[in-house]
Amino acid sequence: MSDGETASNSGDGQRKVFVKTYGCQMNVYDSQRMADALARDGFVETDKADDADMVLLNTCHIREKAAEKVYSEIGRLRQLRDRRRKGGADMMIGVAGCVAQAEGREMIARAPAVDFVIGPTTYHRLPDVVARARGGEKVVETEFAVEDKFEHLPRQQARQVQRRGVAAFLTVQEGCDKFCTFCVVPYTRGAEVSRPVAQIVEEARRLVAAGVREITLLGQNVNAWHGEGADGRSWGLGELLHELAGIEGLARLRYTTSHPRDMDDALIAAHRDLDVLMPYLHLPVQAGSDRILKAMNRRHTAEDYRRLVDRIRAARPDIALSGDFIVGFPGETDDDFEDTMRLVRDVTYAQAFSFKYSPRPGTPGADMAGHVDEQVKSERLARLQALLAEQQAGFMQQLVGKEVSVLLEKPGREPGQLVGRSPFLQPVICDETVGKIGDIATVRIGRASANSLISEPVERRRHAA
Ligand code: 5AD
Ligand code: SF4
Repeated sequence: MSDGETASNSGDGQRKVFVKTYGCQMNVYDSQRMADALARDGFVETDKADDADMVLLNTCHIREKAAEKVYSEIGRLRQLRDRRRKGGADMMIGVAGCVAQAEGREMIARAPAVDFVIGPTTYHRLPDVVARARGGEKVVETEFAVEDKFEHLPRQQARQVQRRGVAAFLTVQEGCDKFCTFCVVPYTRGAEVSRPVAQIVEEARRLVAAGVREITLLGQNVNAWHGEGADGRSWGLGELLHELAGIEGLARLRYTTSHPRDMDDALIAAHRDLDVLMPYLHLPVQAGSDRILKAMNRRHTAEDYRRLVDRIRAARPDIALSGDFIVGFPGETDDDFEDTMRLVRDVTYAQAFSFKYSPRPGTPGADMAGHVDEQVKSERLARLQALLAEQQAGFMQQLVGKEVSVLLEKPGREPGQLVGRSPFLQPVICDETVGKIGDIATVRIGRASANSLISEPVERRRHAA
């Protein structure tokens, strides 16, 4: 396309889409795929709603606050659209993701400004949905389509990689059959489905060929992934990681999110045997009391989890552990909460996410007796978060003075800097002299802030200045 054509297009032809993502990395991944599907339909991406012809909200339903945010955002977008209409322009509003899946047609009833609603298993129908919505129809597309569950993920294209960088996500598994009693995921994302080995390997190869150095395998229950291997045997995630580790040019592998019940021997061994598998594991435990774990239907005890962590650390002593915690699940007493604090002290996390229990309609937890007072939940959360913050600071601090490898991902906030990630997932701010984007540089950590590490040359320069 010549410059002239671009210019004449930008006036009226080029439609812009703003995709706003809430929630988990699965949504980040899906948003990228949706933007790519729309790009084939002539949309270009913009990073703000103000000049967008279409705003697509990719929503999260995991806690009530996350879901409520969507409705306030739609309210703001409706006002923006009204203003734009006065100026003769228009804007389409679409809602995707888990709130879309959970609410379906009710969403249009509650927020009539919404033009279409599309659930996570039907993203391959997005161009068709948009076309119908443009024709004036209020489209609701939330039927589960398990038979083609992975067809909704348009394959990643090489040009995307240039846009998205050197670290990429790759969905290998979707849905969840665990039915933890607090969680909406089994209802919004449906049954567990694993993507076939050949498809995963092909996509990984394509990503690497286009310059990706690090791949994070994604799944709501990623370590429940299973499939038929190249050797005709039944494979679990451990075997899949072995296969992917053989791809030349791929420097780093990660996976998220795991359930303790599915950490099998082969997967633990992979942490011992594969250098490309990064020493970081997100392994949510949610609570430290056996009574609460049982009520949550986690199907393991606190002791099971402690033993599992010991085995993982025996395989990979430097592994950084991360977790998710819920405080104030129905029936949680002070003693139960102290069990959680004790488990956290025993395990020691490098990083963690913690939440107040939020009752989700339709989940068993919502109907349980003994809901905990909001005030008590807040107090418990504050105590837990203080402990986790202390552990995180301790983890960061012990890296000061040590050498770590950093995959350089993008320019830093200040000129002369590049930002990458350590093997343990923290952002590391480096001097641009250490290498170029896509390189893996070895740097010495000079200082740690709350959430990132600062490498030594950057430090020295700061002191010299
Ligand atoms: N209330 C609070 N936290 C929740 N999570 C999932 N459902 C709920 C809920 N109803 C948390 C869990 C999960 C993380 C993604 O969100 O800790 O691991
Ligand atoms: Fe939700 Fe439990 Fe499944 Fe995780 S394992 S997605 S918390 S039901």
